[in-house]
Amino acid sequence: MLNRRGVLAAGGIAAGVLGVPQLLAPAEGHEDSTHDVHPAAFQESKTFTGTKPEIVPWTRPMPVPPVLKPLVSTPRQEIYQLTIDKTTAEILPGLQSPVLGYGGQFVGPTIRAKTGRKTLIMFQNRLDEPANVHLHGGHVAPEHDGHPRDLIEPGRTRLYLYPNTQQGATLWYHDHSHGTEAAHTYLGLHGAYVVEDDSERGLNLPTGAYDVPILLRDIQFDDSGNIVVFDDPAKRTVVLANGVPQPYFEVAARKYRFRLVNSANQRVFHLRLAGTPFTRIGSDGGLLASTTEVEEMVLSSAERSDIVIDFAKYPIGTRIVLTDSVAGEILRFDVVRRASDSSRVPAVLRPLPAMPYSTVDREVDLFYVFKPNDRPDGVINGKVFDMDRVDFTIKRGATETWLIKSSDPAGVKHNFHMHLVQFRVLERNGGAPLPSDLGLKDTIPITAGETVKVQATFTGHTGRYVYHCHFLEHSWIGMMAQMEIVP
Ligand code: C2O
Ligand code: CU
Ligand code: CU
Repeated sequence: MLNRRGVLAAGGIAAGVLGVPQLLAPAEGHEDSTHDVHPAAFQESKTFTGTKPEIVPWTRPMPVPPVLKPLVSTPRQEIYQLTIDKTTAEILPGLQSPVLGYGGQFVGPTIRAKTGRKTLIMFQNRLDEPANVHLHGGHVAPEHDGHPRDLIEPGRTRLYLYPNTQQGATLWYHDHSHGTEAAHTYLGLHGAYVVEDDSERGLNLPTGAYDVPILLRDIQFDDSGNIVVFDDPAKRTVVLANGVPQPYFEVAARKYRFRLVNSANQRVFHLRLAGTPFTRIGSDGGLLASTTEVEEMVLSSAERSDIVIDFAKYPIGTRIVLTDSVAGEILRFDVVRRASDSSRVPAVLRPLPAMPYSTVDREVDLFYVFKPNDRPDGVINGKVFDMDRVDFTIKRGATETWLIKSSDPAGVKHNFHMHLVQFRVLERNGGAPLPSDLGLKDTIPITAGETVKVQATFTGHTGRYVYHCHFLEHSWIGMMAQMEIVP
């Protein structure tokens, strides 16, 4: 069982948690001790003893995670069943790596929901340890939110209800079990959840086969091809698009909508598209007010960005590479055929909801506490996460302004995610928000020394929800807090 004490006891872990290479503890005994704290599901993993297979770029297609089929579908609701499973995946060519997966798939199936129609999912935990499921970005009741305390015991099934009362958006689902969320998500418990909104139909954006989620994340392998769970995150140099390193994706010469999800445990992507700007239409909480061109797209862990690429402007045979400033080339689009296209990218998309008057100001500070001869704690406002403590009590319906900052003494990068609501970024460092802050957000990057002012309205549910740094190894060691929405 992987827990905080286990990881603190394990040599060499701290640097990995922090992402600060200079804090790396001596590597001695590191392999053995980290192995001890791997989740039970991963114990059998150190099986490869040969040489790690080489990744040859653009030799494998990018898979599109299949859309999950409902057991029952009515105009009012859809009922699904999904396992939380141990499985294997061919991430490196020719090697079946032991991983975890929803429905036995390393990138879980895509769930396509509809605004105004409920989704019910029976998740069955087939692991040997507790797990749970969180719908990231979903407006759901607290008992269905995958709170760290709400676990599905091994062998048990739990029904999650997602009301889909929010507008169309690219959400995703992942593990949030206390103490094991980082390892479980890293090992594969992640998938896309798309809320489709009939009111968007008139916009005539690309749909169907031309609407493709792309989950981007990173992973580390040792020299024999075994997955390394905890080390320095900077060593997670293999970047995956829908589970495959450097795949190609064959496209028709027409418009596509891509729903990019940063599903990495801790990484900030700086994406570029072969010298052409991205045409951005959506962010975490749905469509932007208007279509926006961006040269470089910044996406920190758990952020989403919907883009449209019009391949019609390229001759058949053109290859367009998506690059990251650190990882380099990560995905190649190959224009292989012509296709008709009646879709559009309107300049004006959907007005954002009006911002009511804010009545409460709060401050949130994310940082590390370094203790001599001990491992660091992640804290928010000086406190390590305690699920029995309520940090903020919020009146239902209230509109609040939160000043989110990081006074991290080591200059570690963080980010910030709030459950239950989408917020708006008003200011970054006293000035205009970044292009990546546009629209309805639930996750934003925060670098040490930055201050970001956001505003949220807490409508809907009452109860306890968490907010945290979404670098999952950070929230795991305490950088998480709890708010209670009260009537
Ligand atoms: Cu992606 Cu607390 O969640
Ligand atoms: Cu979330
Ligand atoms: Cu952090």
